[in-house]
Amino acid sequence: MIDDKAILITGGTGSFGKRFITRILKEHSPRRVVIYSRDELKQFEMQQMPEFQDPRIRYFIGDVRDRERLTQAMEGIDICIHASALKQVPAAEYNPFECIKTNIHGAENVIRATLEQGVENVIALSTDKAANPINLYGATKLCSDKLFVAANNMVGKHKTRFSVTRYGNVVGSRGSVLPFFKGLVEKKAEFIPITDDRMTRFWISLDQGVDFVLNNLKRTHGGEIFVPKLPSIRVTDLAQSVAPGIPQRIVGIRPGEKLHECMCPADDSHLTIEFDDFFVIKPSIRFHDYDYDYTENRNGERGTPVPGGFEYNSGGNHHFLSVDEITAFNDKAI
Ligand SMILES: NC(=O)c1ccc[n+]([C@@H]2O[C@H](COP(=O)([O-])OP(=O)(O)OC[C@H]3O[C@@H](n4cnc5c(N)ncnc54)[C@H](OP(=O)(O)O)[C@@H]3O)[C@@H](O)[C@H]2O)c1
Repeated sequence: MIDDKAILITGGTGSFGKRFITRILKEHSPRRVVIYSRDELKQFEMQQMPEFQDPRIRYFIGDVRDRERLTQAMEGIDICIHASALKQVPAAEYNPFECIKTNIHGAENVIRATLEQGVENVIALSTDKAANPINLYGATKLCSDKLFVAANNMVGKHKTRFSVTRYGNVVGSRGSVLPFFKGLVEKKAEFIPITDDRMTRFWISLDQGVDFVLNNLKRTHGGEIFVPKLPSIRVTDLAQSVAPGIPQRIVGIRPGEKLHECMCPADDSHLTIEFDDFFVIKPSIRFHDYDYDYTENRNGERGTPVPGGFEYNSGGNHHFLSVDEITAFNDKAI
């Protein structure tokens, strides 16, 4: 799938991008790997790291808000992974126009640039916060998901396939709860703040996220939202795992925060198909030129529609990690 292909990763200097690039360079034989992001310092620092000193890597400074630059960067690209985003919930609430410009207008630009350059396969990364969103970050990612699904109706003579990969909290990613708790332990904090002791989250490692994206490149017809089956954690168990012996203090739920995250909403149950270790939410619209049977993917895997009203959320999950399992999972993931 990846061998001999030219791949562009928007947000290639981020947590996902760096792991994705390390993995494909080590395990596959891409022809060219293009990193597209804004900050020259992050790119410079990446270039100094031994694993990224590879002649197949090209660094492009560019903003996803800049369609002309994106179109130029997409020339000769076969596969695009769209990982750029503004993703901090509070920052999005305080800077809504900026979040909309990057996450929604940026998505439109990626679609137009990849169509113009005839890119074959485009995967946009999404988040559980896009399902039944209650904050602006989630709402912009839902818009982005809708744009990528609908883009399959714009392909015309091009063969571009657009799909979405949606998953939950990535263990240890920049700005996430695990480094936050660890930082408090290092600072010898008197307590670990817990917003609500009922809170649960889906829990995924970066490598699982990369594997899922790589598999979805093979699976997609175009138009799917792919959702992995993941374990859940209780945030109180996470705190106990990271900071055993430090008291927890309830500080109240933050703006835009949910008690439980959802990845397949009940309102989409008529569109949701269950496979062995993932779900597919098929498009709610019919495409002009295609009528795929989404119960069988291009990789030959078969799924079955879920019962009406089915919802996949972190609170109702069958699979919860215990405190010891969280510790083992985190040690392996980072
Ligand atoms: N981390 C999680 O827990 C999680 C969970 C579910 C889904 N996701 C999704 O996964 C994707 C990747 O997340 P991540 O954790 O890798 O994020 P990250 O570490 O914050 O990286 C974001 C990347 O996007 C780039 N970027 C931001 N704004 C840009 C713009 N306007 N134009 C071009 N590049 C831009 C950043 O580089 P510059 O700042 O240099 O531009 C950086 O390379 C996102 O779409 C996110 O929504 C993440």
